[in-house]
Amino acid sequence: MDFNLTVLPGDGVGPEVCRETVKMLEAVGKKYKHSFNMNYRNVGGIAIDEEGVAISAETIDLCQQGDAVLLGAVGGPKWDDPLAKVRPEDGLLLLRKELGLFANLRPVKVHNVLVDGANLKPDVIRGADFIFVRELTGGLYFGKPKRRWKKDGVRWGVDSMLYSEHEIERIVRVGFELARRRGKKLISVDKANVLESSRLWRQVAIEVGQDYPDVELEHMLVDAASMRIIQNPRYLDVLVTENTFGDILTDEASMLAGSMGMLPSASLAGVPEAGVRIFGLYEPIHGSAPRRAGLNMVNPIAMIFSAAMMLRYSFALEKEADAIETAVETVLKYGYRTYDIMSEGMTKVGTSEMGDLIAGKVLE
Ligand code: IPM
Ligand code: MG
Repeated sequence: MDFNLTVLPGDGVGPEVCRETVKMLEAVGKKYKHSFNMNYRNVGGIAIDEEGVAISAETIDLCQQGDAVLLGAVGGPKWDDPLAKVRPEDGLLLLRKELGLFANLRPVKVHNVLVDGANLKPDVIRGADFIFVRELTGGLYFGKPKRRWKKDGVRWGVDSMLYSEHEIERIVRVGFELARRRGKKLISVDKANVLESSRLWRQVAIEVGQDYPDVELEHMLVDAASMRIIQNPRYLDVLVTENTFGDILTDEASMLAGSMGMLPSASLAGVPEAGVRIFGLYEPIHGSAPRRAGLNMVNPIAMIFSAAMMLRYSFALEKEADAIETAVETVLKYGYRTYDIMSEGMTKVGTSEMGDLIAGKVLE
């Protein structure tokens, strides 16, 4: 089959991890007789430098017309001035918003072969396998008022954790649907003991829960959730939460999987269904890691796993997605590691070597 992809490598290590992902997709295409047409465009700092905006309207249009979007990373010190009018991150946020990608799925899986090299106790993390459903187009990231001002010589700044019941309902529904297919337990993470938006969130979650009598709903405060993630991660299965809470908790959770370089994400406009193609944007959860850029050093697996999610959700290529995940597992089993997941006795490789190994395994 033929698929149209918009590829937005972005800044820092983005282009490097993208290159390895494209290499791997070409291997999938060759082996399973698909053709992936890639249209490359700018996003983030590079777009600011070359086009004057963090993402152009044409690029957003092109994304919309394709079957899926692959994105590397955005940002870097060059564009970090707190007074800057436009920031690389604006490109990513606008893209998520314009494409209506409100549901960000971030699976966290502890791979057996990485357990002993992890920062956390092997006995605690072994077997952990859960998924975050992060709300992606509302909350503290987008709510108005959002601005800075000066009054009587004093500087102020505000962001608003604003949600309508509709925004909460649709994301909580995604959580329930996924929970129904997994362990039938949904944890809704909020801060209802302090925040009004969280109290509404909790109320709506309970109401939506009426439609899912087969799924057990538990509410967990975000501070307690951050503890639970490292204290007893096997307790977790499906979690649904606000935009900022989800951003923070998923970086934390990536440490269970060994590194940020291991965690993929899919941003969708609804619930994925087996065998049904749904448009999506796929990106690693990690950032542009500017200090590591150009060193052939970082781990491409987060982005490669993101592409596997793309094959599964946007292209309905389940077998091919499985093949990618198995290829990664095998390469890890053979002892190959990038610096971030390196441990004693393993073989250290760079970004492109890791990409070659995985693509080679897919082709076998
Ligand atoms: C993420 C990133 C982004 C976010 C940044 C780059 C805007 O941290 O995808 O988690 O905060 O959503
Ligand atoms: Mg983040």
